Amino acid sequence: SDDSDDGGNNVINPGTAPGFPPFEYTQDGELVGFDVDLAEAAIERAGYEVGEWTEIEFDSLIPSLTQGNVDLVAAAMTITEDRQQQIAFTDPYYESDQAVLVREGGDLSPESVDDLAGAVVGAQSGTTGQDEVEALVDDGTVAADDVRQYDNYTLGVQDLENGNVDVLIIDIPVAENFADGRAVTIAFTIETGEVYGMGMRQDDDRLADINDALAEMQEDGTYDELVTEWFE
Ligand code: ARG
Repeated sequence: SDDSDDGGNNVINPGTAPGFPPFEYTQDGELVGFDVDLAEAAIERAGYEVGEWTEIEFDSLIPSLTQGNVDLVAAAMTITEDRQQQIAFTDPYYESDQAVLVREGGDLSPESVDDLAGAVVGAQSGTTGQDEVEALVDDGTVAADDVRQYDNYTLGVQDLENGNVDVLIIDIPVAENFADGRAVTIAFTIETGEVYGMGMRQDDDRLADINDALAEMQEDGTYDELVTEWFE
């Protein structure tokens, strides 16, 4: 019936925050990426219809989901306890740690977080990268004034190339993608042991079907094909 919180029917409207290649980004005006393909495949395999994709800033994804503007978030979103208070996650579908990205050929080549003392450090708002930046402020390594927050990492990489920020903290696979083609390079990594899940509303019982679909795709090679396509 149409009065349930899941939108009442077969359509799952996905949302994401582009500017995070190769998971989600815009190419020739079109939204593409690993998450886009994986989410669409999972929705269809689960027997639902893929609705309209909505592009949303990362820190607005969870409110958009809980308010019902979208039904599923596929945004390389790390499963965290804080987020689990607000939304439900699928089973994990990708693992990542954080990378410290610096300007290529710049004068800063830090080897550990201690070397970030005095640096101007940035991340995308609302991300686990930003949590790492805040930890550096809390322990006195970085001054609060030297923190830069970006609506998306594409803007951050521009600022890094231009010298407006010294360091970006960002998920490793995305750091590698930017390092391949932009004037930035990975200085070192921070082991965070993050896993990504797709987000759905806590009362949306279609989540179990999406999980079953993801498991099937992992077993039958569909998942590996997508990894090969987007990461190799
Ligand atoms: N994995 C990190 C987090 O969950 C960053 C995700 C950013 N995703 C994006 N589509 N911009 O906080």
